[in-house]
Amino acid sequence: MLYMKVDVILGLQWGDEGKGKIVDVLAPDYDAVARFQGGPNAGHTLEIEDRKYVLRSIPSGILQEDTYNIIGSGVVIDPLLFKEEAEALMNDCTDMTNRLFISKKAHLILPTHRLLDAAYESAKKTGRIGTTGKGIGPAYGDKIGRCGLRVGDTLEPDFHERYEAAKLRHIEILKSLGQDCDIAELEKKWMEGIAYLQKFSLVDSEYVINDYLADCYSVLAEGAQGTMLDVDFGSYPFVTSSNTMCGGCCTGLGISPRSIGEVYGVFKAYCTRVGAGPFPTELHDETGETLCRLGNEYGSVTGRKRRCGWIDLVALRYAIMINGVTCLVMTKSDVLDTFDTIKVCVAYKRGDETFERLPYSIDESYEPVYTEIPGWKTDMSGMEKEDEFPEEFNAYLDFLENELETPIYIVSVGPNRAQTIRRYDEEEDECS
Ligand code: GDP
Ligand code: IMO
Ligand code: MG
Repeated sequence: MLYMKVDVILGLQWGDEGKGKIVDVLAPDYDAVARFQGGPNAGHTLEIEDRKYVLRSIPSGILQEDTYNIIGSGVVIDPLLFKEEAEALMNDCTDMTNRLFISKKAHLILPTHRLLDAAYESAKKTGRIGTTGKGIGPAYGDKIGRCGLRVGDTLEPDFHERYEAAKLRHIEILKSLGQDCDIAELEKKWMEGIAYLQKFSLVDSEYVINDYLADCYSVLAEGAQGTMLDVDFGSYPFVTSSNTMCGGCCTGLGISPRSIGEVYGVFKAYCTRVGAGPFPTELHDETGETLCRLGNEYGSVTGRKRRCGWIDLVALRYAIMINGVTCLVMTKSDVLDTFDTIKVCVAYKRGDETFERLPYSIDESYEPVYTEIPGWKTDMSGMEKEDEFPEEFNAYLDFLENELETPIYIVSVGPNRAQTIRRYDEEEDECS
């Protein structure tokens, strides 16, 4: 039987690798784009000509007019934020009600989930995660605890009773944490969001996607966050609450592992992290500030300054392994255009011991072991083809490909859609 595969785009570091931009660039090669996990903790920035868009729950294929977009069942949706996001997009571009489908099995983020997120964080004396405050942990917590509400439940006659019951349960917890629970205004807007959701097709997205594949339509799956924030394999407990890795694509879309095709792993030419948790290559010096300034490293959701450091191949090798990455995408290399030398962390060391594999838990006792690579000292942001690359940049790519044993298929040299260079000849997609 002829059957198409789902290609996956996901982040290999701690999020904000530029996944949204790459999804937007590759979307015209696909019939549909599907988000498989996360929620409005994501901020995926797309720059098209002189316009900038930040997408949170809506897949980054939405600005390519001919692409269908699906919010899969692994995603958690805040109807209030979804309404704001969708309305802003509809003001700016065409109507998308007929090409955005939402899974009935996606879980809802309630107003009280947001309050719980903040309350759990402030109740911690130590070890605060620095969440985005969007209610992600509590919403996924209710999902796993089997007491969540789903998009499909909004169509049921007893939805309001079920909502009230969930809300009261949350309020009891909030009270026990000494928190005030005035949600009247938030709740009103949230209910408007629930009504707004009904404008879209609420679907059994697993059927939609598997039917697409059987009908030979191509699908691109879009991950949120990054592999090092995966709830099982990231830097636990400083992680998000979903499976950001490739396996999350199967559980979040309802597709078989045999349906996975290419896995595009997106990484920055350096490294950033928002929120707390280990970051062995973090720079607290002038160089870190320079990376932050040149890379404009401020969170698209919370506006927080991102922590910056050198690229970490120990973490990257691990991420490539657990995701089965077939093609790499390197973003933000332009941020390094003026550097004399570039450091690459090839291992960690603690005392006399060297580690090429990611340790169970990383603390300050692990130090990065660096290799220094000469910088290319060339403005690459206007380049359009691989043959324009300076020699030193090619040497940097060769070094990374060699160390990571995976080809770097795309290089992004600026935030704009147009600033993207594909390095290898594309093979024809085959439905086999
Ligand atoms: P995502 O969450 O992985 O989609 O990434 P974000 O959108 O949160 O963060 C990436 C930021 O870098 C955004 O502001 C992008 O516009 C920008 N960006 C993406 N690719 C490049 C690039 O190659 N160079 C530069 N300078 N900026 C980029
Ligand atoms: P995109 O998709 C970067 C981080 C938060 C915090 C931790 C847990 O834009 O790459 P959460 O609100 O999920 O409970 O927060 O995860 N985090 C992200 N960091 N990019 C993201 O998304 C993130 N989503 C969550 O900063 O450390
Ligand atoms: Mg982001």
